[in-house]
Amino acid sequence: MRFAASVLTLSLVATSSVALTFVKRDAPTILTDITYIAGNISKLNADINTFAVSSTLVHGLALHTDSVKLDTAVKGATTDVLATPTLTEDEGNAILTAVQDLEDGIIGALTNITAVKANVQALPVGNLAALVLSDLKTLSADTQTFENDLIAISPADLLDTANQIADTVNAAFAAAIAAYS
Ligand SMILES: *[C@@H]1O[C@H](CO)[C@@H](O)[C@H](O)[C@H]1NC(C)=O
Ligand SMILES: *[C@@H]1O[C@H](CO)[C@@H](O)[C@H](O)[C@H]1NC(C)=O
Repeated sequence: MRFAASVLTLSLVATSSVALTFVKRDAPTILTDITYIAGNISKLNADINTFAVSSTLVHGLALHTDSVKLDTAVKGATTDVLATPTLTEDEGNAILTAVQDLEDGIIGALTNITAVKANVQALPVGNLAALVLSDLKTLSADTQTFENDLIAISPADLLDTANQIADTVNAAFAAAIAAYS
């Protein structure tokens, strides 16, 4: 019987720790996540600019490292969006403004990474261009998931603007992917 009781205790402990992992998130969490995405986009942009003037292998590989980190930040934000209930008008507006700032940064990064394509291809190791293409595809797919999940919790009257931002960002990804394909 003591054995049975401790099994019961264990399963109760297991159940409560599972419950703890479904932590609710909120608008401030998402805004913090967006600052992480913004920071990672700035880092990527800075490193693209460095690579543009000094196209070494080390600087080229930094583009890959930065893309992976940016992707992690985007996926982390998506996880929190999925745990957040529908946003209020004020929350939706605050997040939309923050996302509009991200839009400029990511479009700048995509334009500039396209501009350094010849330098990426000229590196003495093969396949950094293929790695950049693969990173762009991953980032594009995960960004679209983030956009769609954010749109799903946005108040109805903000949807037109949110969809416009998503369309513009998706088009910029498509252009960069086409350039590297
Ligand atoms: C990148 O995002 C992570 C979260 O995924 C964050 O911890 C980190 O501070 C961000 N990096 C920059 C340079 O902002
Ligand atoms: C894109 O590249 C141009 C020219 O190198 C640079 O002036 C600009 O700051 C870059 N954009 C971003 C967002 O880093």
